[in-house]
Amino acid sequence: MNILGIETSCDETAAAVVKDGIIIISSVIASSAEMHIRSGGIIPEKAAREQTKSILPVIDHSLVQAKTDPEKIDAIAVTIGPGLIGSLLVGVEVARTLSYLWKKPVIPVNHLLAHIYANWLTGRPDPEFPALALVVSGGHTDLVLITDHSKLTWIGGTRDDAAGEAFDKTARLLGLPYPGGPSIGKEAAKYLDTHPQAPLNLFPRPMLKNDNFDWSFSGLKTAVYREVNNKKFDPSHMAAEVQEAIVDVLVVKTLKAINLYEPKSLLLAGGVAANLRLRETFENQIRRSKIKVDFRLPPIGLCTDNAAIVASAAFFNNRPVSAELLEVNPALSITGQF
Ligand code: KG4
Ligand code: ZN
Repeated sequence: MNILGIETSCDETAAAVVKDGIIIISSVIASSAEMHIRSGGIIPEKAAREQTKSILPVIDHSLVQAKTDPEKIDAIAVTIGPGLIGSLLVGVEVARTLSYLWKKPVIPVNHLLAHIYANWLTGRPDPEFPALALVVSGGHTDLVLITDHSKLTWIGGTRDDAAGEAFDKTARLLGLPYPGGPSIGKEAAKYLDTHPQAPLNLFPRPMLKNDNFDWSFSGLKTAVYREVNNKKFDPSHMAAEVQEAIVDVLVVKTLKAINLYEPKSLLLAGGVAANLRLRETFENQIRRSKIKVDFRLPPIGLCTDNAAIVASAAFFNNRPVSAELLEVNPALSITGQF
């Protein structure tokens, strides 16, 4: 089954053709990130305007790259939320129109669930259930237990800022460019290369010892602000400290959840899962603690927003709706669709 995925929840415009939920035939991503670098963050109206311009060429390109045409597409999958309302509408209205034109079913997809399906696109055997998934993106931080496709239980998440948001906001305070996650990662690597053994405990680790699987990242901004405002500071050192504070709490709480729920697989997902320090720390801690879990990390290019994950999630959670009932839901939660 060939599914055309469409993704426009944030500043990317993406389309992909995926076969049977696991084989990427084509994947095209146009991003307005360059434009947002200049403004230091996303301006939603500008992002949506760019998406109206690029959506049709991107879809066309994805079909050409797949050497296919609409007749050979079995269904259209589209992100309905969460995300920016103007951006989501671009994808949803195009999916609705193509569904009428091509007479193909349309499958609404939860963007956060889609992130998890990056782990089905790696060429390895499908992850086994029950699985614990940590979804760390620009707007969300959620820990969910998955007993089967479409069967998710939320077990924890952030109380305030998302992990990606913490990277983005602290990067701004450090004078590093948007998006903050990759900038902090690069800057931190310089410090870690030259100070591999240096302790990194300048910033607080809130809620680390609490008896739950929740996080809080908003205090980190204040702590960084106090540390750098009107003072001389080493951006590489500060970036390494920020990164460690975020990575540390994510890893410790997730491993605690593994000990309690004993899942067969641990799936990392979302833009922050592209962070090298997070990836290494998970690998090292799992090895060191001798926890028995099949740890899955999607390739970096599948962690951040793309449409292949949308098509994959649609294949495994296949719930088509009639095109006139397709609706955006900017505030959809990770368990909201089922
Ligand atoms: O999943 P994603 O592409 O979009 C959303 O659904 O939000 O995630 C974007 C977030 C941004 O906050 C960005 O700074 C962060 O992921 N990010 C990273 C890295 N690459 C992207 N954070 C840390 N390290 C990275 N290498
Ligand atoms: Zn995303």
